[in-house]
Amino acid sequence: MLWLAAGAVLRHRSPVGYWYVVGYSLTWFRITRTWRALCIERGLSVSRRASQAMVGDLIVRGQEVRPVVPRLWIGRPTRNGLRVRVRLMPGQTPEQYAQCAEALMHAWRVYSVRITSPVRGLIHIEAMLSDPLAGVVVRDPDALGAGATAPAGPPVMVLVVGVTEKATSWLMNFRLTPHWLIVGATRSGKSTLIHAIVTRFAPQGVALVAIDLKGGLELNVYRPRLSGMATTRAEAVELLEALCDVKDERTHLCNVAGVRSVWELEDPPPPIVLVIDEVAELFLVTNSRDRDEVALRDRSVALLVKLAQLGAALDIHVIAGGQRFGSDLGSGATLLRSQLAGRVCLHVADGATAEMTLGDIWPEAVVAAQMIRPDEQGIAVIADSEGSSWVRARAMFTSVDEAADAARTYSRLTPTLPGIRRPEFGGAVEDSGGGEG
Ligand SMILES: Nc1ncnc2c1ncn2[C@@H]1O[C@H](COP(=O)(O)OP(=O)(O)O)[C@@H](O)[C@H]1O
Ligand SMILES: [Mg+2]
Repeated sequence: MLWLAAGAVLRHRSPVGYWYVVGYSLTWFRITRTWRALCIERGLSVSRRASQAMVGDLIVRGQEVRPVVPRLWIGRPTRNGLRVRVRLMPGQTPEQYAQCAEALMHAWRVYSVRITSPVRGLIHIEAMLSDPLAGVVVRDPDALGAGATAPAGPPVMVLVVGVTEKATSWLMNFRLTPHWLIVGATRSGKSTLIHAIVTRFAPQGVALVAIDLKGGLELNVYRPRLSGMATTRAEAVELLEALCDVKDERTHLCNVAGVRSVWELEDPPPPIVLVIDEVAELFLVTNSRDRDEVALRDRSVALLVKLAQLGAALDIHVIAGGQRFGSDLGSGATLLRSQLAGRVCLHVADGATAEMTLGDIWPEAVVAAQMIRPDEQGIAVIADSEGSSWVRARAMFTSVDEAADAARTYSRLTPTLPGIRRPEFGGAVEDSGGGEG
């Protein structure tokens, strides 16, 4: 009785202390008690004997009565949970364990279970008691308010856009990971993340270009700071063609100077960041028998893939956002995806989208992405080409007004690109921009 009371007091006073003293042992007890049953139930056990045997003249298939379960190494407590190591049995893959993450979560009564495989043949199961990102609304500590002077010097292509659950900054390094794919259902936080990116780029000499085939609704607010904008398919083709010409010209410049990338040039041209809202719109046609529309679609997809493929060293970047990005969009989508090395998967409506967003680089991350709830806006699973793994993170909150403000304030820093007309903007545009959500 006295022990129970002491436990309750400790739990209230110091949850972390309670976890180390009491919670950890209880959870470890639960883990060891349920491990065998879980492995057998979820197909993680293996047989010592072959699954086929000859009985008389018959081949009999079956499972051994006493299967072997993978060995579990004692878990190390962390501040917010514990880590368990498991050696993979022959024939097993990390995905098999990732598929069981939800079952483990319930059996161990923890908030989340994360499966990673940092070393071949070994699995780390990280159980977390609570969500470290819950209730965190991140604001940028050094966001440049309206009226602040723009930073001097060349553009910084490394942006801090949020925090990770490991309490580190979520960095988008456009030099190392030139292109990004941002996928999330409606109201999952896509636009907010794009606002954060645009707000960060606005005070720098970066050329921002936008394609929004939903009539420009989402990206209208950036108009004053845009070097180019397309809201119809025909305009998109025109814009992409002009960008490809810029790309060719930059290639020529590099060849003449004998360097391999534009930032090795003495006077490097401004970085170009192409933001595409609802990228699936670019791939879908309303009438597949409409030859003109299909031709425009094919042309824009081909140009976009080419731009992403060859643009990186020329400081041309692509950020593609969308609700879904599936293989049903055609081979162009898979081609484009292979160029977009940076992936951000917010809450998505279906498993196929999570699979398409992360499955080709981190199959284990797909399950974690599917666990993001609709009310967890701004929480995402991110993976990029520099990291040795994927991580869960929360994007910084940047409102549409802040983005609009930044776009207006730094309008004068908008570079002009050859062959591309700057979008018009006036009072009317700014008014409609302020009210967008
Ligand atoms: N990083 C974030 N932190 C806190 N709240 C967020 C965050 N991102 C989005 N939200 C909330 O979710 C709402 C919808 O986000 P939005 O970016 O418009 O979604 P989407 O563009 O995916 O439809 C926002 O109005 C905001 O209240
Ligand atoms: Mg949106």
